[in-house]
Amino acid sequence: MNKTIAVIRGDGIGPEIVSEAIGVLDAVAEKFGHAFTYQEAPMGGCAIDAFGVPLPDSSLETCLRSDSVLLGAVGGPKWDAQPSANRPERGLLKLRSAMGLYTNIRPARMFSDLAAACPLRADIAAKGIDFVVVRELIGGMYFGEHTTSQVDGEQKAVDVCSYSEHEVRRVARVAFDMARKRRGRVTSIDKANVLDTSRLWRKTVEEVGRDYPDVELLHMYVDNAAMQLVRDPSQFDVIVTENLFGDILSDEASQITGSIGMIPSSSMGEGTRGLYEPIHGSAPDIAGQDKANPIGTILAAAMMLRYSFDMSAEAGAVEAAVDRTLKAGFRCGDILNEGGKLLGCKAMGAEIRARI
Ligand code: IPM
Ligand code: MG
Repeated sequence: MNKTIAVIRGDGIGPEIVSEAIGVLDAVAEKFGHAFTYQEAPMGGCAIDAFGVPLPDSSLETCLRSDSVLLGAVGGPKWDAQPSANRPERGLLKLRSAMGLYTNIRPARMFSDLAAACPLRADIAAKGIDFVVVRELIGGMYFGEHTTSQVDGEQKAVDVCSYSEHEVRRVARVAFDMARKRRGRVTSIDKANVLDTSRLWRKTVEEVGRDYPDVELLHMYVDNAAMQLVRDPSQFDVIVTENLFGDILSDEASQITGSIGMIPSSSMGEGTRGLYEPIHGSAPDIAGQDKANPIGTILAAAMMLRYSFDMSAEAGAVEAAVDRTLKAGFRCGDILNEGGKLLGCKAMGAEIRARI
């Protein structure tokens, strides 16, 4: 098959990790007889420097014309002083929204070889960690009105959080469909004891759940969920939640598996075109030093193969190559254990490529 992939290298460690993911995709193309064409789409701080805006129209068009989008990471201290409407992150939010990517899927699975990196007590980790966070991605407070004004002699800031039923329904469906293919349990997370948006969320998820009598539906308040994630993560199968809660809980979920550097994510809308990225940030402190862990991005490329291109065998080959590389004892700095063989970003990419 021929596929066009828009490539957003971004800032900080973004370019390094994306290069390794492309190397792995090329190895897949060669082995399975596909042709992947890459089209650069500058976004983030580097785009602010070159074009004055975080997401130039030309980059957005490249993404909208592609079969799928691969992204490293955007942002960094260099652009912290930008006005909020022109920050690197705004490029990402605009891209998610313009591509209609309302579902963000973040798997949290502990690799058996990385159990030592799990920060939870051994008896908790022993029960296993294997769940998926389904985060609503283009609604809620992220996309409500943001204003800062002068009121009664002091500054006042407002961020509006809103959800409509259809926005909840479509992402809830994704969660229930996914639970059907897994262990059949959805935990919907909200703050329905305080927020109207959460009450609407809960009611709508209940309604969608009636179409899935075979899936168990539980509701949990977000504060309790943050606690349950470290008390007993084995209770979760599919978590579904709104944008801001999902942002926060998915960072927590990734860290309990060992390292945020290992976790990929996919963002999808109605079609098969998606946006695939690691969930970690641009890590400016280690940028350009060949120290970053490319595995999150490589596993994001595997998700692209599976979900956007319907190439399960190819995706499986990438995931197996990552597993075998870890089994062979190779580690990047973030997951280094005693006796592990420390590799830089490039060398880690090469080891994985060699096992495709
Ligand atoms: C993420 C990130 C983004 C978000 C930032 C970079 C805007 O934290 O993908 O989780 O908050 O969604
Ligand atoms: Mg986040």
